[in-house]
Amino acid sequence: MFLQSLHLKNFRTFEKIETTFYPGINLITGENGAGKTTLLEAIYYLALTKSFREHQDKFSVASGKSFFDVEGYFKREKNIFSLRLFYSAEDGKRAFYNKNKVNQFSEIIGMIPVVILSLDDMDILYGYSSVRRKWLDILLSQLDMHYLKDLKHYKKTLAHKNRLLSRYDIGYAEVDNWNIQLAAYGASIIKKRNTLIEDFNKKIAEIYIKISGKKENIAISYRPSLEDKEDLSSQLYDKLKNSFENEKAKGATFIGPHRDEILFLKDEKPIKKFGSVGENKTFLISLKILEKIKIKQMKDVSPFLLLDDIFGELDNNRVHNFFDLVENDSQTFITTTNYHRMSEMLALNFHHYNIANGEIRYEKALC
Ligand SMILES: Nc1ncnc2c1ncn2[C@@H]1O[C@H](COP(=O)(O)OP(=O)(O)OP(=O)(O)O)[C@@H](O)[C@H]1O
Ligand SMILES: [Mg+2]
Repeated sequence: MFLQSLHLKNFRTFEKIETTFYPGINLITGENGAGKTTLLEAIYYLALTKSFREHQDKFSVASGKSFFDVEGYFKREKNIFSLRLFYSAEDGKRAFYNKNKVNQFSEIIGMIPVVILSLDDMDILYGYSSVRRKWLDILLSQLDMHYLKDLKHYKKTLAHKNRLLSRYDIGYAEVDNWNIQLAAYGASIIKKRNTLIEDFNKKIAEIYIKISGKKENIAISYRPSLEDKEDLSSQLYDKLKNSFENEKAKGATFIGPHRDEILFLKDEKPIKKFGSVGENKTFLISLKILEKIKIKQMKDVSPFLLLDDIFGELDNNRVHNFFDLVENDSQTFITTTNYHRMSEMLALNFHHYNIANGEIRYEKALC
């Protein structure tokens, strides 16, 4: 599957662009501020109906305009389909599949799976545990529509319950029903996270060594608030029930998948504290490769790779090894300000585009 053409209107710096792309590697160059990340953001919007940069869609509307419109035409085997996302402050956000409005975004999320790697992703290592949970949630949501639905229900239920907890006269009977639901959705979320992380943990060291050439003792560990892996739902329910007095005193729920931690370890210590910048980046890239492998395995389609200016601190060997590992089966978008370094390092066929003055221009194919 590949993105054949992309049409943007009033999307950040772009007033209007229409461009076609090729399968394989599309190298996007341009000066700082040209709009390279914006282009990747638009593709990401079609995949996940939201940005990887901002929480609020209104920031993606070009200054002074009232809406943005992003549309992509995708080719899968012999079929072409379109996805479109429209947003205006007045009408909100709407998604269209083959020109028909979709009722729920979950119907299209996962249709064009993406793996993104940008400098912001370093936060997956360095940031709060909420960033790691979000990373995992986005991946699992693309892999499994039911996960996304359970997660939505879980968050909604949690918000309801927390609102109730903030009332001073609340009694347990009033939250019990919410706890039953939290336990059911929460258990399903924890179980799927567990399975994925166990799988990644088995493979991460092998991928890491293929990129770095160095054997390191690295691991990923998921620490849910439950010790036992059986009967997750009843365990969670019991814990929630027993925590009621504490929850009531503090007005929040402290147990469940919204509080779980994911740890990235080197020699059993957090890699963010002990790894070098290049090692941490290698770890992150290994994670992303695992994402790609998993998506291909579960959905039988290669995800789009969006690589936003990420090869900065990596030596040429690691970049070569990275491209050897991702193979050439994904449509890949790579942004850079440094055409020469990137084209030298790629040592692969690619198509070159340049962005300047709000326009994107096809430069050439290097085959
Ligand atoms: N809502 C908006 N309306 C208009 N312009 C915007 C909006 N949001 C961001 N911009 C501008 O769009 C431009 C392109 O930003 P973008 O991050 O895509 O550039 P870039 O090519 O990735 O640059 P860099 O090489 O520095 O990463 C920037 O000048 C930014 O200020
Ligand atoms: Mg950028």
